[in-house]
Amino acid sequence: MRIPLIAANWKMNKTVGETLSFAGSFLSEIQSLLDAETHWPEILICPPFTSIPALSSIVASRPVSVGAQDVYWQAKGAFTGEVSPLMLRDLGCTYVIVGHSERRHIIGEGGDLIRKKVRAALDAGLKPVLCVGETLEEREQGDALKVNAEMTKEGLSDVSAAEIPLVVIAYEPVWAIGTGKEARPDDAVEVIREIRGTIDGMFGEGVSADARVLYGGSVKPGNIRSFMLREEIDGALVGGASLDPVEFAKLTFEVLKARPKPSAI
Ligand code: PGA
Repeated sequence: MRIPLIAANWKMNKTVGETLSFAGSFLSEIQSLLDAETHWPEILICPPFTSIPALSSIVASRPVSVGAQDVYWQAKGAFTGEVSPLMLRDLGCTYVIVGHSERRHIIGEGGDLIRKKVRAALDAGLKPVLCVGETLEEREQGDALKVNAEMTKEGLSDVSAAEIPLVVIAYEPVWAIGTGKEARPDDAVEVIREIRGTIDGMFGEGVSADARVLYGGSVKPGNIRSFMLREEIDGALVGGASLDPVEFAKLTFEVLKARPKPSAI
């Protein structure tokens, strides 16, 4: 059973004070969900490193997970400016985003580094949210499926089949991120099927049934339902619309409405 996941990627936004104020408002917006104690959908917030301790302490006893937006692959040592998986665990993180397109395309991270980060996250007990996605040029050239399959393969090449349930893949077409132009759900489903096919090809038929695959790129309360109604899509990674507590609460309830918790579990 893949539990739907609604994940916030705040990018380089919010001071500690702004984080605390977001958390207070968001928790009160989702009070009815907290009261229901269903833990469905799973909620994840990934603030900047500097806000992780404040967010962790305020959501400590609530069903809201905290994640980081990046991690280094070494446990410790002379790596100025980097943060290790163990340090993130120490602050209460359970997830970490790896290979976001802004890190690939603005900071210049390559596939080899991303593969190491996925491995290091799992070794430290963090669930990696591996981001993949094609550029507009790649889509226009008809390479979207190929590019996403390659990114999936590279990112997961040091992972074992038994670890696949711990891995989240976020399909985020680069041209849809922060542009207000979301992908068509049919196109997202086509790529996500390719991603699952790649996982099955690597680890064995049926293994991908345990991998959660999210869609990301200009997700808003007004369009998330069209993605969540597709069984292939297990949730969303949300940038801009996750910065406002009311909007992020709306997104959470939209996920719940489109994908209610089955009564059998
Ligand atoms: P966006 O960002 O929702 O602002 O498009 C998504 C992301 O980068 O994860």
